[in-house]
Amino acid sequence: METVLVTGGTGMIGKVLTEALIERGFNVIILTRNINDQQKTKNDKLSYAVWDVEKQILDKIAFAKADYIIHLAGANFAEKRWSEKVKKEIVSSRVDSAKLIIESLKTIPNKVKVVISASGISWYGHDKEVAKPFTENDPPAQDFLAQTCQQWEAAIEPASFLGKRLIKFRFGPVLSPDGGAYVEFKNPIKFGVAGIIGNGKQIISWIHIDDLVRAILFSMENEQMEGVYNAVSPEPVSNKRMILEIARNTRKFFIPIHGPSFALKIVFGEMINEILKSTTVSSAKLQQAGFIFQYPDLRSAILQLSHQKNSPV
Ligand SMILES: NC(=O)c1ccc[n+]([C@@H]2O[C@H](COP(=O)([O-])OP(=O)(O)OC[C@H]3O[C@@H](n4cnc5c(N)ncnc54)[C@H](OP(=O)(O)O)[C@@H]3O)[C@@H](O)[C@H]2O)c1
Repeated sequence: METVLVTGGTGMIGKVLTEALIERGFNVIILTRNINDQQKTKNDKLSYAVWDVEKQILDKIAFAKADYIIHLAGANFAEKRWSEKVKKEIVSSRVDSAKLIIESLKTIPNKVKVVISASGISWYGHDKEVAKPFTENDPPAQDFLAQTCQQWEAAIEPASFLGKRLIKFRFGPVLSPDGGAYVEFKNPIKFGVAGIIGNGKQIISWIHIDDLVRAILFSMENEQMEGVYNAVSPEPVSNKRMILEIARNTRKFFIPIHGPSFALKIVFGEMINEILKSTTVSSAKLQQAGFIFQYPDLRSAILQLSHQKNSPV
């Protein structure tokens, strides 16, 4: 059976992806910075190998076993305020890790046929005045996260020159019961407060975690797929619409409150530009490749999330 090497496999997306890969019969090796005791006891289709991005070293034996590489690793950019040190880690954990993968493809005898890399719709920046969904052909914006995505994609690009089928997914905010935007939005609602951010008009091009994982699996099997694909649902919505939809599915009574932008700026610093940003992104290319969304609209996605603790794909 084929083997998939997953970087960032211990993260929110990686865990669900790993489960889905194993369910489909793949062996999975998670490339991680640390192996803990709990991980050592997992099932025989799952194993762990270590890499050190700073030192540019990884487990060569594990690498040589891989038929597919899925690169998800990257320091979380919503956890800490963006000091220069944090920004450096955000970039290097993605870019230097991608460079290590490329260097390993060049120097370690391997049988890798497909490389799939995460990127983000932060590539596009803020909607233009005449809102037209961004497509994969749009150039990167100039802000920090857009430039990070640009460097990330450029760093993994040489995989295609090495004869590997390369797919770069620009993920939108992933709605999952295990963390990220859905949980952040839902937490205050549990206490009866639906916290709309700023004026609530900013567009969020979200995707349900199950669809994201299904899109990755789909791209592994679909040999026509190559290059960049937006991984967003066909129904981007405003922040207000999303908060109210989550609220309605969480409790009977709640009070909608707008968090004023100036107060949010004090709390979040430079990161607030991301939170207040409107990014309308097209899913057309992924759909044209034949991918069918299980949760194409917000209502079905939130309904499913509100009924699931953690959903099997
Ligand atoms: N979740 C979203 O809404 C979203 C949206 C757009 C793009 N993305 C991108 O998709 C990828 C996966 O997202 P996620 O939500 O699953 O992320 P996550 O839960 O934060 O997990 C990321 C993983 O990256 C590894 N990592 C963290 N810091 C690192 C560092 N300094 N150097 C090397 N590896 C490091 C960790 O693995 P180990 O601890 O095992 O090393 C961690 O489990 C990320 O690159 C993220 O930017 C996510």
